[in-house]
Amino acid sequence: MKYAFVLGRVHTLSIAELLAVLEQADAVLGLTGEPVKILEASEEILVIETAKPLNAQALQKKLGGVIKILEVIDVIKKRESESVNFALKHYFKPSVLKKQFFKDYKGKVQFGLSVYILDMSLLQRPQPSNNMRDGARNNFGNIFSEPKRIGMMIKKSLTDTGASVRLVLPEFNSLSLASVVVTKNLLLQKGAEISILAAKDHILTAKTLTVQDFEDYGRRDYQRPVRDEKQGMIPPKVAQIMLNLSGCKSGDTILDPFCGIGTIIQEGLLLCFRMIGSDINKTAIKGSEQNLEWFRNRYKIAPGKYGLEVSDATKVSGLIEKGKQKISAIVTECTLGPMYGSFPKADEITKNFADLEKLYKKSFEEFSKFLPKKGRVVMCLPAYRKNRNAYEMLPSLDFAEELGYNLVDIISPDLAKKFKFLRLTNRHTAIYDRKDQIVAREIAIFEKN
Ligand SMILES: C[S@@+](CC[C@H](N)C(=O)[O-])C[C@H]1O[C@@H](n2cnc3c(N)ncnc32)[C@H](O)[C@@H]1O
Repeated sequence: MKYAFVLGRVHTLSIAELLAVLEQADAVLGLTGEPVKILEASEEILVIETAKPLNAQALQKKLGGVIKILEVIDVIKKRESESVNFALKHYFKPSVLKKQFFKDYKGKVQFGLSVYILDMSLLQRPQPSNNMRDGARNNFGNIFSEPKRIGMMIKKSLTDTGASVRLVLPEFNSLSLASVVVTKNLLLQKGAEISILAAKDHILTAKTLTVQDFEDYGRRDYQRPVRDEKQGMIPPKVAQIMLNLSGCKSGDTILDPFCGIGTIIQEGLLLCFRMIGSDINKTAIKGSEQNLEWFRNRYKIAPGKYGLEVSDATKVSGLIEKGKQKISAIVTECTLGPMYGSFPKADEITKNFADLEKLYKKSFEEFSKFLPKKGRVVMCLPAYRKNRNAYEMLPSLDFAEELGYNLVDIISPDLAKKFKFLRLTNRHTAIYDRKDQIVAREIAIFEKN
């Protein structure tokens, strides 16, 4: 079976999370624990082949970095000079549409059409060449007209059989439908979203199985009783990605020793971990208590799955010993230092880094007291964003190595070599940033020796 995963905006983290989850053994998800067979990937989408069917619904809920999960239906050859719609001219016959894309639905068909690019060079306008055939020359290079052309082709094929059809197309020069559009138009309930995955010499046709529940992520972020704009909160999706990078299995206990108002704790509970949160600030722990009480009711979390305490992270081992908990991993967004509206002076950054390094060092020393061998610390470090490609990061993470922790590659070097589009730092960590933020998050994984 072949599946395609539409990646989130920070595609490097999406891929890191996806591979970490897909390589676990989990019968409910349909995962055997075997290495993943990646067929192809781009910064938009990753295609894999599996021996067994996956439980797409359950996987979608688990993955913070995946926007849609698609089932790949067919692979179609294409000449490099051909446009995508030209190569599909004879493919969407009524019988194929009925059997592969619309078999579960009768009545007025609603369908959406998305195009994803597997080879980014398709987005560049090619030089016209004299040996292009007519159909090719007319269309090639105008990739943004493809969703409409292909959508109309499918619509015609269906209406020719007497079917009543409504077509939903991407807007504003976009090639694909946002998950919100798929959901609001009930495409998966009343028809289908058909996706075309375009490479230079072939095309994959695919059908959307699930889309990310954007409303639920919004609820988990904005409807909580307590928010803390001053300290900042990690987006639930990023918390989920970090938890999935912890190497833990359901039922394991994870500690967040800088838990703030509890975002990582709540996301950990949804992923079926036991969670312990601590923070030096009493008000933050009060906020966490209120938020988790709300969360527990809203998401039907069984009692006794989490604990919250006021504690300095540099003294947290006392708390762990007192509770006799066995901590499998630490997942945390430690304080990132002051927040800025404009890029700070170099000496200010140097001072912030020096202060934070002291705190990180003391905390890692403390974690060593209870973290098992191979136990991971997945954490956010500050990365000052100069522009889209340049960040000022902590100059060295040697402090962790000196304390007996290895920095783990967030993506294997082999894969990083193969997929040049991945955006990794020189030390093979990845950055989660937003255009409007000066202090971005560098996501690093440490493993205790
Ligand atoms: C960026 S906030 C974490 C926000 C959290 N991830 C959330 O989404 O709510 C960092 C937290 O670290 C806490 N903190 C700072 N120094 C600490 C220390 N030495 N020990 C424990 N917590 C500390 C702050 O009180 C703050 O709540």
